[in-house]
Amino acid sequence: MDIIDKVVIVTGASSGIGEAGARLLAAEGARVALAARSREKLETLAAELPDSFSIPVDMTDEASIKSMVAEVVKHYGRIDVLVNNAGRGSAWLPIEKVDVDDYRSLVELNVFGPILAMQEVIPIMRKQGGGAIVNIGSGTVHLVREGGGLYPGTKILLSHITRVARKELEKDGITVSLLHPYITATNFFTNIATNRDEPLVASPGLLDTADSAEKVAQAMVEIIRSGADEVSLALPRLQALL
Ligand SMILES: NC(=O)c1ccc[n+]([C@@H]2O[C@H](COP(=O)([O-])OP(=O)(O)OC[C@H]3O[C@@H](n4cnc5c(N)ncnc54)[C@H](OP(=O)(O)O)[C@@H]3O)[C@@H](O)[C@H]2O)c1
Repeated sequence: MDIIDKVVIVTGASSGIGEAGARLLAAEGARVALAARSREKLETLAAELPDSFSIPVDMTDEASIKSMVAEVVKHYGRIDVLVNNAGRGSAWLPIEKVDVDDYRSLVELNVFGPILAMQEVIPIMRKQGGGAIVNIGSGTVHLVREGGGLYPGTKILLSHITRVARKELEKDGITVSLLHPYITATNFFTNIATNRDEPLVASPGLLDTADSAEKVAQAMVEIIRSGADEVSLALPRLQALL
């Protein structure tokens, strides 16, 4: 899809990959709806990016997601692209130690949030004759390692749903894509709320090899343009851990 003048919702636009993606998309001529919980950060970013619009949303709250999509349509009159980027990590810990309530909140954000946002934009895109949805997965989906059942599990679930949605929506001209970042230097690791005494990555030293958020933003723009089904920035770099 050509990006110029397209209306793109980026969730999690207040930080990291989402912020870098929003900046690059705006620089490439898109009109960007900046969505996250941090209202002030979004307003500051919106003041910088021409034709952008800040829209507070809690991606764990169905009513908030519905209202976000409605507000974007009210503001721009259409939605061409949804980037489901908002997400949170968890520490690497054995299944035996899982706090199910904490995990439930992770699944709410990393899986239910993107599904609900897709459900809201699909009818709008279908009516417009097409659109693009990019779901942000994770390189951890490639790994089956001790302690790696939780956060990677949420992204594996999202990945499968994304692949199936791609098939379901092809006939409507809606392209659904999956982008797996490699470890990326963002606030992701400081935002892991609980079990901080457990490892935060699959293997010590990996954090030193992190990509920049700008590199992932470039891949985000490319996958919107190409409509590719799946791109991983993590393979073959995680090969040694497989
Ligand atoms: N960094 C990595 O190594 C890495 C690797 C692979 C995949 N990823 C994925 O990349 C995506 C972006 O992560 P990041 O690295 O950029 O981390 P980040 O800097 O922590 O950004 C996370 C974003 O999600 C938003 N968010 C969190 N909870 C939310 C909620 N309930 N409702 C709405 N927005 C919410 C945050 O905004 P507010 O706090 O303002 O709401 C923030 O903008 C995530 O899906 C993550 O799983 C990251």
